[in-house]
Amino acid sequence: MSAQAASSGHATVSADGTTKKPASRRKPAVASTPPPPTLIERTNALHLEDLKSRFLDGSLLAFAGPSDNASTSSYHIELYTSSSLPEATFNDCFDLLEANMSTSYRITSIGWHPRKKKEEMKHPAMRYLILTAVAGGSSDDINPAAEKAREGTAVGSMFIGFLEFMITEEEGAEVIYTYELDLVPSHQKLGLGKKLLDVAEEFGKRVGVEKAMLTVFDSNKGARRFYEREGYDIDEISPDPKTLRNGLVKPPTFHILSKSFIPPTND
Ligand SMILES: CC(C)(COP(=O)(O)OP(=O)(O)OC[C@H]1O[C@@H](n2cnc3c(N)ncnc32)[C@H](O)[C@@H]1OP(=O)(O)O)[C@@H](O)C(=O)NCCC(=O)NCCS
Repeated sequence: MSAQAASSGHATVSADGTTKKPASRRKPAVASTPPPPTLIERTNALHLEDLKSRFLDGSLLAFAGPSDNASTSSYHIELYTSSSLPEATFNDCFDLLEANMSTSYRITSIGWHPRKKKEEMKHPAMRYLILTAVAGGSSDDINPAAEKAREGTAVGSMFIGFLEFMITEEEGAEVIYTYELDLVPSHQKLGLGKKLLDVAEEFGKRVGVEKAMLTVFDSNKGARRFYEREGYDIDEISPDPKTLRNGLVKPPTFHILSKSFIPPTND
């Protein structure tokens, strides 16, 4: 509205063709208050140091290596946001994901799209748990790409794996969603995946989300067993098998699993 129309008190016709009453005859405007930020918005607005102090269980972040892996003396888990993750560590994560999982991605309906995947990995609300090892002896079994010294990583520590997650909303539920969980092949089957998952789940519980969720490929039977052992079950939003015209039942190429944090009630 122009200053002239406002002061004369005449109705004005705006560009979209609607008629507006003169300001003096309109009800006083009620200042509309924005809705309070949701749990997800509040959590994702926190700085890294606040995320660490409020949602990480310090007792789960450092532990001794398994006794059957003599070369490793201790492990350490560190939380990063996508913006605080050193570029070299981001590359370690992407390279490991590509080596472990790109073939599995390719044979599914999702496909393997490196550029899109990197964009997703850099989403501002993406969080990373980075697992490193301090080698006590030979480091022959460590991924050679991980041996190079890198910014932000303690001298002598080696990249072993990562868990990538987001505090987000999924079909109306507040959840902690694990996007990726990968260990270097030499450090799989040692119980380290559980260590990362435990930190993520405790993070989600402390935030106050109702469940943990993740996607697992149907072809990845080992990972599926691993998650089931950890208490994950098929979620209600997981795709159903399709019955083809010839009567054959085609399983989905991936499943969505979840683990509730809400204690069951007795009634
Ligand atoms: C899936 C993954 C994260 C699981 O983590 P993990 O630490 O290897 O898990 P576990 O330690 O439970 O090991 C899995 C297997 O090793 C066995 N295992 C565990 N500890 C062991 C030990 N100390 N000695 C020998 N075997 C052991 C488990 O019994 C299990 O065997 P099973 O599945 O045949 O029953 C990890 O194997 C991985 O990175 N895989 C490749 C990437 C991938 O598939 N990611 C998941 C995408 S959804």
